[in-house]
Amino acid sequence: MAAFTPRVFSGIQPSGGLTLGNYLGAMKRFVTMQDEGKFETVYCMVDLHAITVWQDPAALTRATRELCAGFIAAGVDPSKSILFNQSQVAEHAQLAWIFNCVARMGWMQRMTQWKDKAGKNSQNASLGLFAYPALMAADILVYHATHVPVGEDQKQHLELTRDIAIKFNNDFGVDFFPETEPVIEGAATRVMSLRDGSKKMSKSDPSDMSRINLIDDADTIAQKIRKARTDPDALPSEVDGLDDRPEARNLVNIYAALAETTPEAVLADHGGSQFSAFKPELADLAVNKLAPISTEMSRLMEQPDEIDRILGHGAEQARALAAPILKKTYEIVGMVGA
Ligand code: TYM
Repeated sequence: MAAFTPRVFSGIQPSGGLTLGNYLGAMKRFVTMQDEGKFETVYCMVDLHAITVWQDPAALTRATRELCAGFIAAGVDPSKSILFNQSQVAEHAQLAWIFNCVARMGWMQRMTQWKDKAGKNSQNASLGLFAYPALMAADILVYHATHVPVGEDQKQHLELTRDIAIKFNNDFGVDFFPETEPVIEGAATRVMSLRDGSKKMSKSDPSDMSRINLIDDADTIAQKIRKARTDPDALPSEVDGLDDRPEARNLVNIYAALAETTPEAVLADHGGSQFSAFKPELADLAVNKLAPISTEMSRLMEQPDEIDRILGHGAEQARALAAPILKKTYEIVGMVGA
């Protein structure tokens, strides 16, 4: 295998607001990887992915700026990481086309997110929604990214990214694209709904009580945690005691991720507590960690020109990395003029 520069890429869709799941499963870990200094870090607002389902244009613009504000408020520093929106760097869509010709229909049909999102009405889903994972592979591979921090729900898409890289390398007899490593780590790789411990916390859940939004105020956060579904038993002292208790496990995992500790340590402290005692502590912790982010997001949202400047600058930096990799890809494929 060729040696690749250690480089992180990850993306978030600007479709609706950010949830605690996005924050703990992705953004908070983006900041850690940025600050570790072991990687170049490239973070993207994937607006081309967002439009695979209908987006109101004005809402998309606003959601992209709000997401950028969220990245910065959470600690992504545009002077340390490249921060931009996908549509400003045409190389993503250009490489995606090549990958549309590498990936197979059967691979796409097996994607659980495609099956979930297209549902029974797949004939009426957009072609873009079907090809979504090939664009995601292009996002990653157009930077030769070696590591991709994501939540558990993206695992299958990252396996497909590796399959596309391997097939491209085989088809053309090259060692050009890396086999990217997913980084799915920590206590909160799958934050669950507060109303149903078997469902993922999601921005598209019809019930707002199922999720904590990064822009929720302190009272709303406390109320959502107070009303979170739980079982009647006290917390166990060991993680094995969380088996078959998905709601309890979820709250313990959220606590551990917010407190930057492990579920074992949380249970060592709180084992034996009733939820009536644990929930207020979790609510205080969540408010303490999230309120500064939401305040900073609101402040940044008052400066849309500054946000647009940051995204424009990030896009230039991103293009400088992506353009030579796309050019080389075109050469490998045999495009005249590449
Ligand atoms: P998206 O926008 O749905 O979510 C962004 C990130 O948040 C994580 N996440 C969660 N983690 C834990 N618990 C949850 N409940 C939860 N909900 C969301 C997701 O796993 C993700 O890491 N297809 C991607 C966006 C994308 C991308 C990429 C990611 C496009 N190109 C290239 C990585 C690399 C998506 O829809 O994420």
